[in-house]
Amino acid sequence: MSSQMGNSLRFSLFGESHGAGVGVLVEGLPAGVRLDQEEIATFLKRRSPGQRSGTSARVEADSYLLQSGVYQGVTTGAPLVAFFPNHDVRSQDYEAFKHTPRPSHADYPAMLRYDGFNDLRGGGHFSARLTAPWCFAGALALQILADKGIVIGSHIAQVGSLKDEGFDPVAVSKEQLQKLSQATLPFIREEVRQPILDAVSQIAADGDSLGGIIEAAAVGFPGGFGNPIFENLESRLSYALFAIPGVKGVEFGSGFQVAQMRGSEHNDPWVFQENQVKTKTNHHGGFLGGISSGMPILLRVAFKPTASIAKEQETVDLQELKAATLEIKGRHDPCITLRAAPVVEAAMALVLLDVLLEGGQ
Ligand SMILES: Cc1cc2nc3c(=O)[nH]c(=O)nc-3n(C[C@H](O)[C@H](O)[C@H](O)COP(=O)(O)O)c2cc1C
Repeated sequence: MSSQMGNSLRFSLFGESHGAGVGVLVEGLPAGVRLDQEEIATFLKRRSPGQRSGTSARVEADSYLLQSGVYQGVTTGAPLVAFFPNHDVRSQDYEAFKHTPRPSHADYPAMLRYDGFNDLRGGGHFSARLTAPWCFAGALALQILADKGIVIGSHIAQVGSLKDEGFDPVAVSKEQLQKLSQATLPFIREEVRQPILDAVSQIAADGDSLGGIIEAAAVGFPGGFGNPIFENLESRLSYALFAIPGVKGVEFGSGFQVAQMRGSEHNDPWVFQENQVKTKTNHHGGFLGGISSGMPILLRVAFKPTASIAKEQETVDLQELKAATLEIKGRHDPCITLRAAPVVEAAMALVLLDVLLEGGQ
């Protein structure tokens, strides 16, 4: 498996959902960063299951052990390891998937890839539990970026057919992003919260699941960073965002809407604002030629409806070599999107900090 990424700031994820635990090794962190434990805890809580209605009933406090790289609460510059022990584990729920793989989950392709030796319990290394240490590393990156005046935030832009208002592509502000980061379920328009929660409760009661979209932004990221061709910033962010389990689409700026626009509508005129070069509109979403323009970075990430649903589904019996049906009994999120905002923010923060540490301009 290749569960590592980054150039100057490298991180590797390890562990399995129902093994001893999951964790992250981070290398290349600047020395002398005082860990803001309270902020890290708040960030991790936004991702945790069992916190609120509409998420998996698995209860994990997401407490971690810092095993290296931090002394007296400050990073030493040495490799940092954070380990998250697993507690609330019910592996019996997964026995059936060995022979009757879940539709739209990784069980069957992983069995082919690893000759059946992969740990299936709780999804093993494919589990969203791995996003806990990923968010821990992301929380550190967010803290370092904030000290440099760069703020990342996101909101639940869509669940099923219910939509929140989008960010203003030009005027999205650090204050707005910081406010959203305080919410466990971030919405721009509060009126959509209850209808979305009701829709998720209803879909869970139906034994089904819903997809959705997280819209994220970064403000304060300087222009002139990114290394085309293949290390361009859109490519690097996509690489990280598509690694989040359940992601099926990533778009920047006006994204797929560009297909129906004219050049005269889509082009963002260059203008002087307070002696700085900006664009009047922001269809480009913060990157041109894969290099940051200095405008807000805007992206949208589409999550599929959770694969593990309670409704009876068609599958195959790999022992009997015949058609079978499957009823999934474990504890699952009826809508991944409700827990995904901090994971998107973490993935963005780690890429953007990595690029800054590499240098540019
Ligand atoms: C925060 C989060 C929570 C998730 N919860 C579940 C879940 O409860 N059940 C499930 O089947 N998939 C869940 N997933 C998605 C699976 O991990 C993912 O679909 C699976 O690993 C296969 O990968 P793929 O969908 O990217 O192909 C979750 C993903 C995230 C990011």
